[in-house]
Amino acid sequence: MMNVNELFSFLWKDFVKETPSAERIKELFESRGEEVINDHIAFRTINDPKICKEVMAKVFMDLGYEVAGDYHFAEKHLNAIHLAHPENADLPKVFISELILEDFSTELQDTLRREVVDVITERMAFNGNLIFGGRPWLMPSYETYQSLRTESEYAGWLYIYGFRANHFTVSVNHLNGFNSIEEVNEFLKENGHTLNASGGEVKGTAEVFLKQSSTTAELVKQAFIEGVYEVPTCFYEFAERFPMENGELFQGFIADNANKIFESTDMKMHDTVKN
Ligand code: NI
Repeated sequence: MMNVNELFSFLWKDFVKETPSAERIKELFESRGEEVINDHIAFRTINDPKICKEVMAKVFMDLGYEVAGDYHFAEKHLNAIHLAHPENADLPKVFISELILEDFSTELQDTLRREVVDVITERMAFNGNLIFGGRPWLMPSYETYQSLRTESEYAGWLYIYGFRANHFTVSVNHLNGFNSIEEVNEFLKENGHTLNASGGEVKGTAEVFLKQSSTTAELVKQAFIEGVYEVPTCFYEFAERFPMENGELFQGFIADNANKIFESTDMKMHDTVKN
């Protein structure tokens, strides 16, 4: 079994293969002498008992993580949990969301059961390796992808990318040369990166103790049965946490913020840029 640092290092390498801009951003920070600490890492799945968020959490629970919060996103039809390591606050939190299948059309449900859930063997699901298993099914169909994303961009993304980190998140609090997430955002834009502006570039306020921003998932060429098409990949997030009344930094998540962060992989991000 991998130890926790080996696991995160593997997940990062796999993530930047799909998201080279994240590696460039990390190097930008490091070139200014920063050490980049992850606030959290996020994963996506489906609420089928075989591959639900609790199954995905197992590999982290085995490494000492505990469930520290749960969330519901009505508009996106998602549930989520977050896990934290009680003995090591420097380890990133883990955020695992799952699509609520029964909220969707029977067509979407049948498609995801056939194309995703049924392909996963019990062994794959329960040996704890699924979370970094990538896409265990064969080449996706562009037509199927389009039919999924008309109902849920999240479903479309999962169908193309499978099981891997959807995003890593830089802890702004750990950056020495930046005083706020707003400064980080300006720095990223000056260096040519595009931010998710849905609901404003900064999601959240100091009053809810959490501000977040993210890059928009860049368009990358992916091979489909029908040919090569450009589709959104993963993204990089930034989080600034604020002290609560007791003086400790808030360590949870805010549904309103996350609702907009999920949209970082939506195709509409690119429509906005073009218009
Ligand atoms: Ni996040």
